[in-house]
Amino acid sequence: MPHAKLRAPDLTPGQYSTTFGEFIGIGPNGNLFVDGCDVQDLAEKFGSPLYIISENQLRQNYRRFRDAFRAHYPDVEILFANKSNNGLAIRHIMNQEGAGGDCFGAQEMYMALLAGTNPKSLVLNGSNKQDEELEMAIANGLCINIDAMDELDRIVAIAERLNTTVDIGIRLKLDLEPLRNRTGVAMHGPGTLKEQSDSTKWGMTREQTVEIVNRAKTMPSVVLKETHFHLSRMSNDPADFAVMAREMITWSGYIREHTGWTPPCIDIGGGWTFGKWYGTGPNSQLDDDRAPTPEDYARLCSAAIREEAERLNLPLPKLRLEPGRALSGPAGVAVGRVGAVKTGQTKKWVNLDLSTNHLSWAAVLDWYYHAVPVKNAGAAPTETVDLVGPLCNSDEIGPHRKMPALVRGDYVAFLDAGGYTESSAARYNAQLLPATVLVSGTQAEIITEREQLKDVAGRFRVPPRLLAGSFAA
Ligand SMILES: Cc1ncc(COP(=O)(O)O)c(C=O)c1O
Repeated sequence: MPHAKLRAPDLTPGQYSTTFGEFIGIGPNGNLFVDGCDVQDLAEKFGSPLYIISENQLRQNYRRFRDAFRAHYPDVEILFANKSNNGLAIRHIMNQEGAGGDCFGAQEMYMALLAGTNPKSLVLNGSNKQDEELEMAIANGLCINIDAMDELDRIVAIAERLNTTVDIGIRLKLDLEPLRNRTGVAMHGPGTLKEQSDSTKWGMTREQTVEIVNRAKTMPSVVLKETHFHLSRMSNDPADFAVMAREMITWSGYIREHTGWTPPCIDIGGGWTFGKWYGTGPNSQLDDDRAPTPEDYARLCSAAIREEAERLNLPLPKLRLEPGRALSGPAGVAVGRVGAVKTGQTKKWVNLDLSTNHLSWAAVLDWYYHAVPVKNAGAAPTETVDLVGPLCNSDEIGPHRKMPALVRGDYVAFLDAGGYTESSAARYNAQLLPATVLVSGTQAEIITEREQLKDVAGRFRVPPRLLAGSFAA
């Protein structure tokens, strides 16, 4: 029997007068709470801008996803997309929950290994893997999803040098014919879902896949493990995901016909959305309470896989998924402090110390993060303002938001900001990156330190030859 502290805890959702998540809502004093902590207190104690993650919400999101798929499919493994939040503490929580991981690049792989993740539950994805990256994966026993024709030989050379075997998968370039006329979010430029998918750099054609499998079968150091695909966030319709899942099996049939090998596992990537009653996600396809749930995805994808496997007389493969934003997104909030409040002829601007460098999707993907005042979070809105940051570009993190009157020193929180925020934050204008606090019940602990000036300035060097010319009068 493991020690009680080693077991993942039971979860009891918080009691809130308004609920933004099982562990995020408006608390007894009217302020925004993350689990049992008043966000006003956290911002005053830890400073702003600040990311806050609810440990229990993260666990809850993972369990809901896992349980939904387990209810519909016999053999499922959830690999957390580390890129969505690669904090070490986050990875430790995922480990305790039993989640595997999708690693992209040497650093994400290193951090997952450093956190003690079982390497057999980690995959390495990437379109241009470096030799050192391949070696780290092979030495530690990760599955490498091949995404270039010369990758197999490079992998084998390293495996032979290390005198070991290596698990490989193959990232597919699915045809997605049924999505030829389907439209969604312009994630990969303009076009239908098929056109967007075709235009990305990812994946191997059917013929290339067959060639890789046939060659790999002759290589004693290679163990063929899976095929892989990632539909991405261009659609939030589970029917599109079911098309993709079905086609993974169609390709398994094609691969079996041309190689004799049937993929024992399919990894159907990430891109799974989540909805909130107040709206979240890309402005062009906002996810509200009609958004698909993990149950919807699980039901439709599992049925599609079963039907196609039955039609082709294939055994049901193990199913792997790589959700990122659906797990980490709703687990976090980002908090900014109000500074200058400006009124123009047609607009009012509320300046915050939080910006599009901290919530980069607001700028690059036109992403909607719902904003609430931290103090008196349920106060009725009285005006429409643009919530902007301190950068020298037009950094609108919350244009046209209905808010109560905000004054200098107030805090504003952006909800569902636990994914792709810290991990894709930028230092434009030499901004210092925020701290992240992990909340569990009434406990709040720093899991990412706030950057200091030395972290930004310390990386710059001045060649000595420039010193005299610059310092001399
Ligand atoms: C290969 C792969 N898997 C999983 C994910 C996670 O996607 P999401 O966070 O939308 O679930 C990504 C995101 O880019 C990805 O590239």
